[in-house]
Amino acid sequence: MRLLGIFCQIFREAGGVKGRVPNDFQRTNRIKRKAMAWWKPSNQSWQLHPGSGTMDVPDEGRGASSIARTPTHRHPASPIKNSGMELGGSSCPSKNPKRGAGPIWSLSVIFKKASNETGRIRWKMAIPFGPAHDMCRSMKTQLIGQSPLRVGRLGYGCMRISGSWDRTKVDSEVTRRAIGLIEVALEAGYTLFDHADIYGDTACESIFGEALRLHPSWREQMIIVTKCGIRFEDEPMPGQPHRYDFSCEHILASAHESLGRLKIETIDLLLLHRPDFLADPDEISRAFVELRAVGKVREFGVSNFRPSLFSAVQSAVPFPLIANQVEVHVQRLDCFTDGTLDQCLERHITPMSWSPVAGGRVGTGAEAKDERHRTLLDALDVAAAKFSTDRTNVVLAWLLRHPSGIIPIVGSANPERIKSAARAAEIEMDRDTWYHILRAARGEKLP
Ligand SMILES: NC(=O)c1ccc[n+]([C@@H]2O[C@H](COP(=O)([O-])OP(=O)(O)OC[C@H]3O[C@@H](n4cnc5c(N)ncnc54)[C@H](OP(=O)(O)O)[C@@H]3O)[C@@H](O)[C@H]2O)c1
Repeated sequence: MRLLGIFCQIFREAGGVKGRVPNDFQRTNRIKRKAMAWWKPSNQSWQLHPGSGTMDVPDEGRGASSIARTPTHRHPASPIKNSGMELGGSSCPSKNPKRGAGPIWSLSVIFKKASNETGRIRWKMAIPFGPAHDMCRSMKTQLIGQSPLRVGRLGYGCMRISGSWDRTKVDSEVTRRAIGLIEVALEAGYTLFDHADIYGDTACESIFGEALRLHPSWREQMIIVTKCGIRFEDEPMPGQPHRYDFSCEHILASAHESLGRLKIETIDLLLLHRPDFLADPDEISRAFVELRAVGKVREFGVSNFRPSLFSAVQSAVPFPLIANQVEVHVQRLDCFTDGTLDQCLERHITPMSWSPVAGGRVGTGAEAKDERHRTLLDALDVAAAKFSTDRTNVVLAWLLRHPSGIIPIVGSANPERIKSAARAAEIEMDRDTWYHILRAARGEKLP
């Protein structure tokens, strides 16, 4: 009776009718949590995790509907089996334009009674690929590029969590505080965590690894991005210049070292940090193919790339590059006009905005430095009043409004600002406001 009751509840929440799509993510999560509560063996911490198995490639499961194809949906210790039922799942991507370019999975729960009678409850829901699912409770989500990686609309940048670029200054207090920031970000709904091998002179990745060691369950709630390719002067040998290095050897070594520091098995997304003047697309491709083949990296992208170099590298890499992380914000408008965002739109690449609040220069409370800056801050304040929010969130919402699906990477190390910025994803900026801000940001009229 209890099982029946829970099933009815799940079914009701799911829409009750075959094929109905729950229209919000929180509802999907409620359904999933209830399914898990029922499904989970009492003495184990196993969780239903639809993205971890054979659903790895979205197209792979098209139309498939078989328990055997999705073994990860069935737990060997499932109490269902003991009670004479068998539980499985099946997946097939459905096309719903409202959900963006990516697939929506439909999940079937099939159960067999001892009498051999087969029942099936089927509902469609936005089960994103991968671990980001659980923590998307309070933030809208999107897919990254053409990949199945689903993340919150804003990412959290970890460049400042160590508080310094000198790793010798990182002590237990710095680490404790940094781990607190990661927790705040997770709770606020961020699921994308942005790193680079060089941040904090490697300390940021190491601190993050410590956080995951202390809180292993956080890993499945995150999409972890890191970058490689910048090498500082005198590293690793004295006399070596500051340089960019996209050699196959360096990409492989850097990814391997990041995995060790982050204490993870797989980097979700690896970006090439800054264009190497000596970049050889074939060499880059060799590194990417190898990292993917051995399961060390799931997806790849670039950062600070001009469109022509993006195309050159993409032409050699046998799978889509999914992101270009660039400096784009109200004080840095180049990407709107130099082809970067056009290319993102054309190829379904996700742009990520680094320094989305211009390092604080256009954030709430920032002081104007000159007349043009004053005009911009005034325009932001007008919009903030209109949307009953603050200037920082206007700046973020302005980026979010672009149709390419820009993901602002919030870099604050202030818990209140991290939480507050997450609410920018709720603002839907109208075209007129967007253009008022553009006009002020340009400092001159449009032609
Ligand atoms: N791909 C690349 O080349 C590249 C380059 C740079 C950064 N990144 C990535 O982008 C992320 C974000 O960059 P970012 O940290 O420069 O972004 P940001 O969010 O624009 O700037 C954060 C900085 O601004 C300050 N700030 C924010 N709001 C403020 C306010 N209202 N008043 C005063 N100060 C304010 C923050 O101080 P508090 O900490 O006190 O809030 C912090 O120092 C980095 O963490 C990194 O992951 C990538």
